[in-house]
Amino acid sequence: MTQVSPSLLSADFGHLHRDMQMLNESAASMIHLDVMDGVFVPNISFGFPIIKCVRQLTDKPLDVHLMITDPGRYVRQVADCGADIMNVHLEACTHLHRVVQQIKDAGMKAAVTLNPSTPVSLLTDILGDLDMVLIMSVNPGFAAQKFIEHSLQKVKELRALITATDSKALIEIDGGINLTTGRAAADAGADILVAGNYVFSAPSPIEAIAGLAAL
Ligand code: DX5
Ligand code: ZN
Repeated sequence: MTQVSPSLLSADFGHLHRDMQMLNESAASMIHLDVMDGVFVPNISFGFPIIKCVRQLTDKPLDVHLMITDPGRYVRQVADCGADIMNVHLEACTHLHRVVQQIKDAGMKAAVTLNPSTPVSLLTDILGDLDMVLIMSVNPGFAAQKFIEHSLQKVKELRALITATDSKALIEIDGGINLTTGRAAADAGADILVAGNYVFSAPSPIEAIAGLAAL
């Protein structure tokens, strides 16, 4: 069994209430929210007003993935939106340790995200402080991209590093996840699968989530 974090990026924002109702009735363990600033990634998505709306529409944990430069500036605002997990990119933080402490002090779980080209070994000194690590299996910025196979090797390396350092961090993977890549990621050691396009383009999103959760 894996946990599933459906990405709202592929939802229909004109029918947010309907899509949230589906997610509430689904096997999703949490809801993944992709915030993009047009600087760290070449795309802009949504921000605090949408996260606040989503908070009012679900009791499931909110897994907020910030694809923005210097995310430490917004810890308080993300917490005030009702986020449960704050994901920041290692590549976007000059003082990552400080940001992680600020996230925890604000009452949220701290997660660090790695781009496809960032080695897992850079987490060695911070892993003991983390609740979760997010391995990007596409270059961040867009939904429905092709899964990068090398990500599986990174998940395996991360699993070994977590064991070696006695860290409690969960492993999440994000980008190009479907039943095939999700199975491979779970076998490599991923605990949580993020899925956007696969879920929301499925004839039955609720069955697509159930299929991933059963891996
Ligand atoms: C990509 C985002 C992902 C995205 C995943 O920048 O971080 O969360 O929504 O979408 P799929 O599952 O369609 O690759
Ligand atoms: Zn994401």
